[in-house]
Amino acid sequence: MEVIAAVAAGAIASACQNAVLSSWLVSICPQRDYAKELGERLSRNAHIYTPGSDNFAAATTRWSAAHAPEAKLVVIPSIENDVAETVKYANELGMPYLAVNGGHGAIKTVGKMKNGIQIWMHQLNGVELSEDETQAKIGGGAKTKAVTDALWAAGKQTVTGLCECTSILGPGLGGGHGVLQGRYGLVSDQFVSMNIVLADGSLRTIDESSDLWWAMKGAGHNFGIVTSVTSKIYDIIHRDWAYESFIFTGDKVEALYENINSHLPNGGSLPVDIMHYSFFFNNPEVDPNNPLIMFFIIQEGNMIVDPTYTKPFHDLNPIAVDGEGGVFTDLATWMGNANTSPPCKKAGLVNYRFPIDVESYNIPAQRQVYDLFASATKETPALNGSFFLFEGYSTQGVKAIPSESTAYPFRGDNLLISPVINYAAGADAEIDAKAVELGENLRRILHEGSGREEMHTYVNYAYGEETKQNMYGYEQWRQDKLLELKNKYDPERKFSFYAPIV
Ligand SMILES: Cc1cc2nc3c(=O)[nH]c(=O)nc-3n(C[C@H](O)[C@H](O)[C@H](O)COP(=O)(O)OP(=O)(O)OC[C@H]3O[C@@H](n4cnc5c(N)ncnc54)[C@H](O)[C@@H]3O)c2cc1C
Ligand SMILES: *[C@@H]1O[C@H](CO)[C@@H](O)[C@H](O)[C@H]1NC(C)=O
Repeated sequence: MEVIAAVAAGAIASACQNAVLSSWLVSICPQRDYAKELGERLSRNAHIYTPGSDNFAAATTRWSAAHAPEAKLVVIPSIENDVAETVKYANELGMPYLAVNGGHGAIKTVGKMKNGIQIWMHQLNGVELSEDETQAKIGGGAKTKAVTDALWAAGKQTVTGLCECTSILGPGLGGGHGVLQGRYGLVSDQFVSMNIVLADGSLRTIDESSDLWWAMKGAGHNFGIVTSVTSKIYDIIHRDWAYESFIFTGDKVEALYENINSHLPNGGSLPVDIMHYSFFFNNPEVDPNNPLIMFFIIQEGNMIVDPTYTKPFHDLNPIAVDGEGGVFTDLATWMGNANTSPPCKKAGLVNYRFPIDVESYNIPAQRQVYDLFASATKETPALNGSFFLFEGYSTQGVKAIPSESTAYPFRGDNLLISPVINYAAGADAEIDAKAVELGENLRRILHEGSGREEMHTYVNYAYGEETKQNMYGYEQWRQDKLLELKNKYDPERKFSFYAPIV
């Protein structure tokens, strides 16, 4: 009897150690205060928020209201080792965890985290230049604007995403596109070394000598939590930038995208200092019947965009034209991606993206997606705030880096395309189903128009039902290599909420 009682007591004690089992055994297990226990292991300025507090609500509000990960604790590390302590503690309890940075990651798969620990990175936001000023050590939670501004003040710059409120690592671990990529490559191509907390809770410094290095540049979300990264930085070559923007009505779809293909061919003769960007959007005050097309040409090193590039677009009779000259740090405001712009407001919208990368525009497909976007957003007014993005950054720097040298798989592509289908959170399931159907249909048209069997989707825009070939490349050796590294570094699949390899 005594032996059996002792065994049972031992089994219960060990079950109570496990977060999942103990939640089933509430009446037997002693109540544990996870926040207190973990707090004792963290540095003095780390914080822990629990559900119900305003801080917790602010920490867990996201750009897209759908498929949010569910946290029961939010931990805000203040030193890199706090991340390691949190991972170790969560592992002991069998509790899931996820790094959260700018909160703009909207892939459906993150919603699979339930009852977990959100590790909110924003206190790890330092930017320190190396003595020779060729590199900067950037905190794992630093946001784009903080990095751009700190470097700018020192006469430096580096590749970041355009949006001021996303982090460096969120975009960077999946490649990372931005306006300086034509010169220097992707955000991840700047990485020189990093501190990373692995699935076992160890904090390591890795660089190109590690077998993991390849994977961190394109599939990095799958392998650990980066607490800091040292990246290449550059002297500012041109402070000046300019843009010109045009608004076209829907009858100009063919002419506009033909003009882009012939006068601004990405991956072709397009100079490194020129890029373009367009989107479909509804503005019933200007056109009550059909979406409009906003089109930007941006140029580095000029205060007005060279008319050689803008004239063919003026010739299409836009209904409005605008433009300005300024400096690099003005770009995010001009293009509607500053901290004060709508995409940085967490406005209670469900936002879904359905990305596809292509080489150039297929004109009939552009017409078809325009018409479908127009009819669907009219038929379902709840979706009429959606927009449809076409990004054409210069690509020379991206293509200069051998494709096989990093996990980012799609250096051959030139255009980043994605419908952003949104609606106000709280709408019924029918609206949600329509949103997904519209996004998938728009993408299918472009995929068919591309004439390719393969569908390439930028991992950081992925909806969440894409295949791993779509996100990480069709070459079998890439898939094999990723799986082998995953088995080695994350055998228990702790880092499989964001665009999982497995
Ligand atoms: C308005 C807007 C503009 C955008 N502009 C660009 C752009 O210009 N270029 C571009 O490439 N992409 C862009 N994106 C896409 C962007 O790359 C992704 O949305 C990205 O997930 C945002 O990162 P975040 O830190 O804001 O999101 P989060 O949701 O906080 O992070 C996304 C995921 O990254 C992982 N993660 C974050 N930090 C770390 C870390 N330190 N260590 C390990 N894993 C980490 C986690 O798995 C997390 O789930 C844009 C998105 C939006 C919504
Ligand atoms: C969306 O539809 C609503 C309801 O019909 C309308 O009031 C609003 O102006 C529309 N907005 C856009 C951007 O089309």
